[in-house]
Amino acid sequence: MVKIALNIMLQSQGFGTRRWCRELIEDGDVTVNGEIITDPGATFDTDNLRFSVFGEEWIYREHVYICINKPGNIECSRKPSFHPGVLTLLPEQFSRRDVQPVGRLDHDTTGMLLMSDDGAFIHAQSSPKRHVPKVYVATTHDIVTPQLISELLAGVKLHDETTPLAALRCERITEHEIEIVLEQGKYHQVKRMLAAAGNHCTALKRVAIGALTLASLGLAEDAWCYLSPEQIASAGSSSQ
Ligand code: URA
Repeated sequence: MVKIALNIMLQSQGFGTRRWCRELIEDGDVTVNGEIITDPGATFDTDNLRFSVFGEEWIYREHVYICINKPGNIECSRKPSFHPGVLTLLPEQFSRRDVQPVGRLDHDTTGMLLMSDDGAFIHAQSSPKRHVPKVYVATTHDIVTPQLISELLAGVKLHDETTPLAALRCERITEHEIEIVLEQGKYHQVKRMLAAAGNHCTALKRVAIGALTLASLGLAEDAWCYLSPEQIASAGSSSQ
């Protein structure tokens, strides 16, 4: 059991500076488990702690683990240059608690993006040693041929890589679509692999990470959800 003062708890959840949180509490804008609390120093057990700020309900979370179905024209970088950043799609509390993408998708790549404020999770999930397969659906400019599939499976040499990179799995879906599974996460990897195999990627969507699929989460484009401990574990698992 962890007990925490209300103003410190609110700050940890991204509601602003300690001073701002204290004022929110003193002004009667905060409830805990349904009751208005005006003492910033009142302490609460963080287990199953439910609170509201300006009438909006929240649950205390030591860390946040979410999945967003990223739309196009959104950048994953912290300092986006040409398009809005992915944090603009989430409640502002998340940027204040330093929620960040776990790995990156290109601005025009859509689909599954995990985000968290748990540094150890981000690090472990992004580690190349982890071999977490990522599943993409790529739309191609030219027709998908058996040769394209076999080249992607055999491995293609990219400019700045010393060894060829191969897909773990690759299947034709339609004349202009493939499902490709990669274990690595090199810069523009799917697009560069398709180009190296003589085709061109015109659209790209990530549909699964590890055993966690976007379909199982039922997320509409732009929508996000919290992940359960089981879903977090399946996103780190190497089974497909
Ligand atoms: N491969 C790419 O080319 N782009 C992405 O965003 C992800 C994988």
